[in-house]
Amino acid sequence: MRKKIVAGNWKMHNDLQDSKNLINGIVKGLQNENVNCEVIVCPPYTSLSEAAGLLKGSIVKLGAQNMHFEDKGAFTGEISAAMLKSAGCEYVILGHSERRTIFNESDELINKKVKKAFSRGLKPIFCVGETLSEREGGVTNDVVKRQVIQGLMDVPEPDLTNMILAYEPVWAIGTGKTASPEQAQEVHAFIRSLIKDLYSEQAAGKMVIQYGGSVKPENAAELLSKNDIDGALVGGACLKPDSFLGIIKSA
Ligand code: 13P
Repeated sequence: MRKKIVAGNWKMHNDLQDSKNLINGIVKGLQNENVNCEVIVCPPYTSLSEAAGLLKGSIVKLGAQNMHFEDKGAFTGEISAAMLKSAGCEYVILGHSERRTIFNESDELINKKVKKAFSRGLKPIFCVGETLSEREGGVTNDVVKRQVIQGLMDVPEPDLTNMILAYEPVWAIGTGKTASPEQAQEVHAFIRSLIKDLYSEQAAGKMVIQYGGSVKPENAAELLSKNDIDGALVGGACLKPDSFLGIIKSA
């Protein structure tokens, strides 16, 4: 049995005070709850240290939303894996579609980040997913396959237990259009079979694959009931304690 993992990607939301309020709301809401899934929050860089302090003693883990692939140097505006570790992060989101499209991140660049994260003891939440025109063009599996193969290039099998794969169809992100549980399950099963081909049956069986794209308390339970959907990567609905807690409870 794979454990379910629910992660909140705050994106570019919440200043320090808003971050404290949201973290406190989540931690308070989880007290006295019998939670049997893993919970991760990914605030913006500026709130990471504060969040780490507030999360001490709670079950909620901390992640960042991006990082650079070099250890240090003249990279104005960038943040390294070691910096994220020292701020208290266990996870880092890599390859999010907003990084791929708005910031032109290539599969090759994302692969460098993934390998650096592993080498510095951070667990990647590695995102893949097709655009609307790719889905309509019938190339969803081809696109996801390329992203998985290239993003995980040279990643050895033992590392796979220290990462999460997130399938986020770009057309479902922030649009209110969720992939139907069947549509999501189909791609999740495809990704799992790909991991089996690239690595092994055992690796495929253990791989945690989250779904992301307009996940809400109202649709989470049905999505998460599917065989190959092991959790959710939540955007909009993670910004209010109640809706994030609702998704956690569904899991
Ligand atoms: P929404 O839940 O707002 O669609 O965002 C999903 C996402 O991009 C999480 O990384």
